[in-house]
Amino acid sequence: MNDSLLITGASQLLTLRGRGPRRGNSFSQLGIVNDGAVLVRDGLIAAVGPTAKVEKLAAARKAEKLDVAGRIVLPGFVDSHTHLIHAASRAEEYELKIQGASYEEIASKGGGILNSVKKLRAATSSQLKRRARATLEIFAAHGTTTIEAKSGYGLDVASELKILSLHKELSAAQPIEIVSTFLGAHVVPLEFRGKSNGPDEYIKLLTDWLIPEVSTNGLAEYCDVFCDRGAFSRAQSKQVLAAGLRHKLRPRLHAEQLSRTGATQLAVELGAASCDHLEQVNAADIRALAKSDTVAALLPGCDFHLGLKEYAPARKLIDAGAIVALATDYNPGTSPTMSMPMILSLACTQLRMTPAEAITAATINAAYSLGRHKRIGSLEVSKQADLAVFEVEDYREIPYYFGVNTCWLTLKGGHVIYAA
Ligand code: NIG
Ligand code: FE
Repeated sequence: MNDSLLITGASQLLTLRGRGPRRGNSFSQLGIVNDGAVLVRDGLIAAVGPTAKVEKLAAARKAEKLDVAGRIVLPGFVDSHTHLIHAASRAEEYELKIQGASYEEIASKGGGILNSVKKLRAATSSQLKRRARATLEIFAAHGTTTIEAKSGYGLDVASELKILSLHKELSAAQPIEIVSTFLGAHVVPLEFRGKSNGPDEYIKLLTDWLIPEVSTNGLAEYCDVFCDRGAFSRAQSKQVLAAGLRHKLRPRLHAEQLSRTGATQLAVELGAASCDHLEQVNAADIRALAKSDTVAALLPGCDFHLGLKEYAPARKLIDAGAIVALATDYNPGTSPTMSMPMILSLACTQLRMTPAEAITAATINAAYSLGRHKRIGSLEVSKQADLAVFEVEDYREIPYYFGVNTCWLTLKGGHVIYAA
């Protein structure tokens, strides 16, 4: 069987070639090849460069051909922050928010995350799986080829394990790779809220029972905590993340979204893979991130959906030298979108990132935050052939058009997983 494919005729081929994550001067370097081609063999990139050169290779002559006729080719998007598995939308809260209720007011009345917990606990594994599979197809249709997914709507042993097992099952059953994160510390579940030592007891359940169980069964690579007002304090977060580290789960953190808690400093101190949200960071937090290898993952979909005016200070983070990534934060409460192109549009207009910076943040930097930058996130020889083709004439038009999907083709490991 012929397992090689020659893609030619990209008016701009964005390779994102170069070493490691991008910060400082290298942030905007997309490594563009005009009239570019990619030769794929056994799912990996065998050659990449100008069409005239690549098509002359002996291996290219035998390959199946695909001419993208002047469209734009780039690495498939890597979405480093999603809450993939949940049972239903929270459209009922969307209306309350429009009428003026804040996210925290809704949560304090039993809505918010607890609303999704109630719905998830009532759902069967096959219902959750069906919904997630349909969702993953939408991710692929917008050019995404790898996602991170967090648990966190179960908040009891059986339900959290049910979600994490689904990450594993789904990753094997369909083309998008799923990187699993344990977020048992999303909020304190209702049954632990009545008494004063309830939160401590819940943390003990996480550190002494669930984290070891998750680690032993290989159900997650990362451990996350929602460190914020109404969720977990910095000290509580440290307890959970330290237990994760003892069991080989690397930290990620929901940090400084609604209030400044010092979570960013904690993330840097623990060598977290990423520190996400960051709307409320201060100058010292920005300096700490700039000096560290912890990725600052920005999630502008949340502020857009919640109608908040205060977006994360992306310009300051980039200009200070931080490794910035972008993600959808796909979830039913604050960011119901699977569209990375929409996130790029928000990054450009609201975060004042350039289109080139936004693409870097959604590919190679996001791959780095998931520890996969040697395999995905750029189009270079021997990397996985994960790529997205957009029906535009200039890469800047990917964020420029908003609310419409210009993705034309998505390939994962050299196989077509979406075609417009
Ligand atoms: O990333 N902030 C905490 N977690 C999610 C929202 C969860 C929800 O409201 O369901 C977030 O914004
Ligand atoms: Fe989140």
